[in-house]
Amino acid sequence: MSTVPHPELEAFRREFPILQTRTYLNSCSLGALGTRSMGYLGEYQALWNTLGASAWYELWMGRIGHLLDRVAWLWNARRSEVALSPSVSGAVAAIASAVDYSKRNKVVVADLDFPTLVYQWLARHDVEVVRVPSDDGIGVDPARWAEYVDERTAIVATSHVFYGTGYVQELGPVAKAARAAGALFLVDGYQAAGQIAVDPRALDADVYVGGPLKWLLGGPGLAFLWVREELIDSLRPTVTSWFGAANQFAFRVDELEYREDAGRFSLGTPAVPTVYTALGGLEVFAAAGLEKCLERTKALTEHLVARLDDEGWELKMARDPARRSAIILVRHPDAPGAVRRLAERGIIVDYRAGYVRVSPHFYNTPDENDLFVDALGSMR
Ligand SMILES: Cc1ncc(COP(=O)(O)O)c(C=O)c1O
Repeated sequence: MSTVPHPELEAFRREFPILQTRTYLNSCSLGALGTRSMGYLGEYQALWNTLGASAWYELWMGRIGHLLDRVAWLWNARRSEVALSPSVSGAVAAIASAVDYSKRNKVVVADLDFPTLVYQWLARHDVEVVRVPSDDGIGVDPARWAEYVDERTAIVATSHVFYGTGYVQELGPVAKAARAAGALFLVDGYQAAGQIAVDPRALDADVYVGGPLKWLLGGPGLAFLWVREELIDSLRPTVTSWFGAANQFAFRVDELEYREDAGRFSLGTPAVPTVYTALGGLEVFAAAGLEKCLERTKALTEHLVARLDDEGWELKMARDPARRSAIILVRHPDAPGAVRRLAERGIIVDYRAGYVRVSPHFYNTPDENDLFVDALGSMR
């Protein structure tokens, strides 16, 4: 008997066409497209077709505001603290451009962070990038951050959930090390938001970035950015845009006056189709109950891990359930071949060097986990 809670959430499966025809277990790459998002996309196209440019001023801008309201809800944040950016790379680049590296020229990251985060500073000749090592290739000992962060550190930047192992970092000690040194603390939460609870202020972060593509079911084209309200005024991005300017439609070219809120980190015209699909994605969580979705994703993870353990598969993930999440890597001698053969059976997962990667989300079921484990076993 499975103990996966909230079976009533299975009603939401009807909203996701891909779940009707496939066993879809790859939400850490791309969340499923739902009927709410498709409905919104229809609205977007209809407005474009009927109103032309006035859709932009009158209605699309309003939808951008609705999306920001939802992001603030998702992250328990103030509306003034959230903004959109074209990608996580863009959001981090804007923040990184607001920091003075002349007195503090060190940025501390983790060996296991996603490359695009680290590249923001590897690309600079005036910054030394220091990587906190992983002892086991799965996570980073939280106590190690304090060894690497010092008074030369401008920024501590790391993931909430490591993309390669699903490891959930204990961020308290990282925040503490950054605070003690007077460094900015930036968290890349792309693999966290939507599958684990996120409250950037409670995490003591200064900046938190994420996006709709994966767990938040909103597709590619945007990222979400949160900046601690007390810091916004002191951060003046040099990677910037007219969307970051106060009174942008005054079209002033004699001076740049930043917006007072986190919108000052915006980078140009946002991808409006994604504004619409992201709204649809976040509405699913609001309708289903965010907490319930997170509990169910966690339980499906534990169910899948138990099944894979029972079958003797070697997993690359934290053995402590508190530190692992719904990104599960199963060691496999021919991961690309296994993923291809599973796809032939309608089971969609992914691979990373030497591993089949499987990521259940709240809309999956214990039966789907079983299907995957049984199919993987039968191909052994
Ligand atoms: C943790 C993490 N950060 C950043 C990215 C990429 O960000 P973007 O393509 O929006 O710049 C990914 C993409 O997979 C990721 O997993």
